[in-house]
Order: sequence, then C-alpha cells, then structure tokens
Amino acid sequence: MSTLENRQYYLASRPAGAPTPQDVPCRDVPVAEPAEGEVVLRNLYISLDPAIRGWMGDDPNYIEPIAIGDPVRATIIGRVEKSASEDFKPGDVAMVMGGWERYSTVPAAMCTALDESAGVPLSYYLGVLGPTGLTAYFGLLEVGKPQAGETVLVSAAAGAVGSIVGQIAKMQGCRVVGMAGSEEKCAWLRDTLGFDAAINYRSCGDDAAALEGAIREACPDGVDVYFDNVGGNILEAALACLNKFARVAVCGWISTYNMADAPGPSARNLWQLVANSVTIQGFVVIDYMDRFPEGIAQLAEWVMAGKLQFREEVVEGLDNILPTFLKLFDGSNSGKLVISIPE
Ligand SMILES: NC(=O)c1ccc[n+]([C@@H]2O[C@H](COP(=O)([O-])OP(=O)(O)OC[C@H]3O[C@@H](n4cnc5c(N)ncnc54)[C@H](OP(=O)(O)O)[C@@H]3O)[C@@H](O)[C@H]2O)c1
Repeated sequence: MSTLENRQYYLASRPAGAPTPQDVPCRDVPVAEPAEGEVVLRNLYISLDPAIRGWMGDDPNYIEPIAIGDPVRATIIGRVEKSASEDFKPGDVAMVMGGWERYSTVPAAMCTALDESAGVPLSYYLGVLGPTGLTAYFGLLEVGKPQAGETVLVSAAAGAVGSIVGQIAKMQGCRVVGMAGSEEKCAWLRDTLGFDAAINYRSCGDDAAALEGAIREACPDGVDVYFDNVGGNILEAALACLNKFARVAVCGWISTYNMADAPGPSARNLWQLVANSVTIQGFVVIDYMDRFPEGIAQLAEWVMAGKLQFREEVVEGLDNILPTFLKLFDGSNSGKLVISIPE
C-alpha cells in the first residue's frame, strides 16, 4: 500500500456548458504504485489547454473522451518519485499525458525526458517549446502555407498559439493582422510583437457583418491565410474577406467548446470556399509528431535569437485548477496558461 496521498480533480459528469465544481470535484486517494515499466511522477506543472474541454464531452474527437471517474487528462511535467522502469530514476524530470492531480502513475514509454541542466524554465516545454509552439509552427507553415507579401489573419492572436503564429508569419515576410479580446492584448500584438494591425473583436461589434467590416479595414488587400483558433462569427467574417486561392488553417473553435449543444453556430457562408477556390484544412499538432524535434529546434533557435516573444501565466496551486482553466474561455489568461505545484 502506498504511503503517498494523491489529490485528484476527476470527471464526475460531462459538463453542459462551462465545467462546474460538481462536474470536476476533488478527492484524496492513495497514489497508484508503479507496475513494471511505469513511473510515479510528482507533478510540477500542469498544462491548461482548451482541448481539455473537448475531452470532457463524449463527441467524436481525435482522442478518447475522459472516462467518467477518471482524473481530468492534461499534459504534465513531473519529477520521478518512484520508478519501475530502467529508463527513469527517481529525481529525473519528464513530460507526459497525466492528469489534474498531484501524482501521476504512467507508462515510462510515454514519457519524454527533460534535461533540467539546460537551464530552460520547465514550463516553456508546455508552451513555446512544446505543444502550443509546435501547433503554431506546423499549422501555419504546413497548412496555411504563407508566402512573402501575403496577408495572414489570426484569431485568439494574443494567446499561446496565436501569438506564435503571428510572429512566424512576420518572419515569412507577411502582413499580419491579429484579432483579440481587449485593448491591452491588441496593443501587445502591435507594439511588442510587431503585428501590422490588431482588431479588438469585442469592441467592433460581434455580429459577422460588423466583424467583416473590421477585417476589411485592417486587411485592405484581403486575406490570404486565415489561422482559425475560434470558429463562430469570426470564422464567418474571415471567410467573407478571403482572396482567390486563400488557405484556412482550422486549429480550434474555442468559441463553441462550452456550448451545451455542440457544434453551435458555424459559418453560413461556406460557399466562399467555392467562390474563391479556397483550401480549408483542419489539423491536430500530433499529425506532425515525427517532425517535433525539427520544430522544437527551430522554435528554440528563434527564442534564443530574440525573434519569438511569448507570455505565460503560471498560477500556483492544484486547488486553483478549475477556476484557472475557465480563464481560457473568458479571455482573462495572458498567454500560455499553466498550473504550478511547487516542490
Ligand atoms: N489543433 C491543435 O492541435 C491545437 C493545439 C493547441 C491548441 N489548439 C486550439 O488553438 C486555440 C487556442 O488555444 P491556446 O492554447 O493558444 O489558448 P489561448 O489562445 O492561450 O487562450 C484561449 C483564448 O481564446 C480566446 N477566446 C476564448 N473564447 C473566445 C470566443 N468565444 N471568441 C473568440 N476568442 C475567444 C481568448 O482570448 P481573447 O481575450 O482574445 O478573447 C482566450 O485567451 C484553441 O481553439 C485550441 O483548441 C489546437
């Protein structure tokens, strides 16, 4: 019997709308002992990603729904507490799909070892040097295929993915326009990240026609690449502004994730895809898993050279996890959102 106690936030019911403490309550249970080939990680950082909301539901998705009664699933970084694997020893640090919990018992084969001696803050491996940075890198370059001189529009532009998309597009020689939900975020995009223009979608009117007017004003030559993080009215407005042979990279539809009846409102003007010979493609970052080393090396080089800037919001304390997660949906997060559980 383990002497370690594990605090877990687990899925008690599938949310209808934003997840509540009744949907995701807390329990204290013994830490599962590692079976052969497993390790017990003492979690240091838990990544809070919009996708987790999708895994709480049971609609068909790119991975299985979280089972009722299981800890909420999330990418975590932890220190090995116990090991029944030759590949890890106590004290090592690893990143893996774990849970909203203090300890995760996981297969060693699924863990990526992280080298603390490199001096990189570990949380960066969840953001700019991890899944969100890679999503921006592969989604923009492989799906959006931006060419120098083209106009790239990105939504949720001040977020973990969007802020990296815009900066990579600038490096490709594009004109870059971001959409974000506050004046502070828009100012950061323009003044710090070097976006050519930023649209505050909350103040320009939120119906598709008002949004379309704001996009046309900010993109006088039309839109060649739309990197869609939000779906809904913003997608509809962006489709109305596309140029001939434009590309739409569908990364996420956060505006719909908390809708009780998915899929919620979606663009009514898909005919624009025909009218302008547009390519629209959804993707998930794991489509590019075999190229992650290349992507991480490039992102790290840009960060070291000062060419990529990013924000992260690290909130301390496992017991803050649900209210912190909800910040993704009201826009009160500043960049990559992470929970820390200090040692
Ligand atoms: N395909 C993949 O592999 C993949 C991987 C990672 C993420 N994603 C997707 O990428 C998107 C961004 O994720 P992230 O991790 O970078 O999160 P993030 O952008 O750091 O945070 C989410 C942001 O979305 C915006 N938002 C929330 N509700 C909105 C709404 N109704 N309308 C417009 N904007 C809204 C908010 O910014 P404002 O203040 O600007 O509203 C919020 O800060 C999500 O859709 C996510 O599912 C996809």
